[in-house]
Amino acid sequence: MTSQIVKLSERLTFVYENLIPDKDVWDICCDHGYLGIAAYKNANFTHIYFVDRVPEIIERLKIQFHKSVFKIDSAVKATFICTSAQEIKTNVTGTVCITGVGGSTVFKILDGLSKNNLLNADRLILGPHRDEMNLLEMIKDSERLNQYQLKSEIKVVERTTSRSLFILDKKNV
Ligand SMILES: C[S@@+](CC[C@H](N)C(=O)[O-])C[C@H]1O[C@@H](n2cnc3c(N)ncnc32)[C@H](O)[C@@H]1O
Repeated sequence: MTSQIVKLSERLTFVYENLIPDKDVWDICCDHGYLGIAAYKNANFTHIYFVDRVPEIIERLKIQFHKSVFKIDSAVKATFICTSAQEIKTNVTGTVCITGVGGSTVFKILDGLSKNNLLNADRLILGPHRDEMNLLEMIKDSERLNQYQLKSEIKVVERTTSRSLFILDKKNV
């Protein structure tokens, strides 16, 4: 994050455009935090959570955020959590975004959260960087996760690599 204006890639723009307004946003495996920062600036969401397991990443992001993004009069809250996301201890609601890691990591995170009864999001936006079809199969076959159903999917070409993005919404029961 070198400037205040971060231009989202086409892949992250798709994620951003499908966040549910007026709810929390979880930027899980956030790294640079571009998605969460864009959501914070938009001010159309309640609370932005930035999660990454690498302490240096979260520390750097926190410093940059307070230097060039934070607004004292913003009603949007921002929280930075350094943990393996499957070990999050907070109730996870709104939109959960997990992009830029492998499908098995995405599954491990979702499974860990739901095992602890903390996965209460309305929407999951998942962008696995590999094993994407396995991920959908694993979610479908999981008793804990099959409360989410595939709503849409797209492919985005990033440099020369095609990336899948999936939106899954909680089923109405
Ligand atoms: C390639 S970056 C993805 C950044 C961004 N989400 C995107 O799609 O552009 C992957 C990040 O995931 C983090 N990560 C990997 N496994 C994780 C886990 N289990 N819990 C939390 N963070 C994780 C890594 O530390 C790294 O910063």
